[in-house]
Amino acid sequence: PEANKGYSYEDCKATADWLLAQTDVRPTVGIVCGSGLGGLADMLKDQVAFNYKDIPNFPQSTVHGHAGRLVFGTLKGRPCVCMQGRFHLYEGYPIHKITLPIRIFKLIGVETVMLTNAAGGLNQDFKVGDIMIIKDHLNMPGFAGINPLSGPNDERFGVRFPCMSDAYDRELQQMAMDVGQELGYGDFLKEGIYCVLGGPSFETIAESRMLHKLGVDAVGMSTVPEAIIARHCGMRVFALSLITNHAVMDYDSEEKANHEEVLQTGKQRAEQLERLVSTMVTKIEHN
Ligand code: 6GU
Repeated sequence: PEANKGYSYEDCKATADWLLAQTDVRPTVGIVCGSGLGGLADMLKDQVAFNYKDIPNFPQSTVHGHAGRLVFGTLKGRPCVCMQGRFHLYEGYPIHKITLPIRIFKLIGVETVMLTNAAGGLNQDFKVGDIMIIKDHLNMPGFAGINPLSGPNDERFGVRFPCMSDAYDRELQQMAMDVGQELGYGDFLKEGIYCVLGGPSFETIAESRMLHKLGVDAVGMSTVPEAIIARHCGMRVFALSLITNHAVMDYDSEEKANHEEVLQTGKQRAEQLERLVSTMVTKIEHN
């Protein structure tokens, strides 16, 4: 596909039909695992898994800490599909490739998308290891014209100018809070605003200070393009950030953001984050 046109409805349908022909699982929930959070996919029972390289039209994942598999299976009896590894702007993919799997989710019958990521904390009340329920976002690449919906609009997916003031489903945010309380996660379950940047360089101190002034609670390099595409085609969206490090905001600080720290924190809190998501999956109702 041309960089500014993206994949056609027919391209997406062909990939969806190819997948549906290979498995009997009919997922209503689609999950995207962030850096270090691929363990969620390993929780699926009766797995049917595909390497991205074997799926027609699929891009391939290049980041350390991302496996690159699409896994079908059941989570506590509920049919799910899980992206173990996602695509990012900083890998050099055109934005349409990053979000292609979300439209394929839609065409295989997914109604609710659950997105997870690792992010840097800007909110001074956040601690490393906190889990942030995303209630809203700031789409910085979007300000510069990098939006997965740019280009011709196909009405079979959704409208030309979709609403984003209701991007993150309120009911699911409340459910996450309730489930978090039940699981005893009260102390480290937070909510806030996520800002996406292109990466791969982490923020300068001046950039982190700017984002903090704008009211951003956590900053990362993913999730927002997928959320936009999911909302455009009418799926419900729920998203979580695992706060793996603090964004540096002080010239006296000795802290430096690095990918190893991101993966390390992922390991420590991953199981709890996975339990939160899997418990929610058992409570989500579909028509
Ligand atoms: Cl500090 N910044 C960005 N942009 N992404 C991150 C991060 C920081 N920590 C994890 N992912």
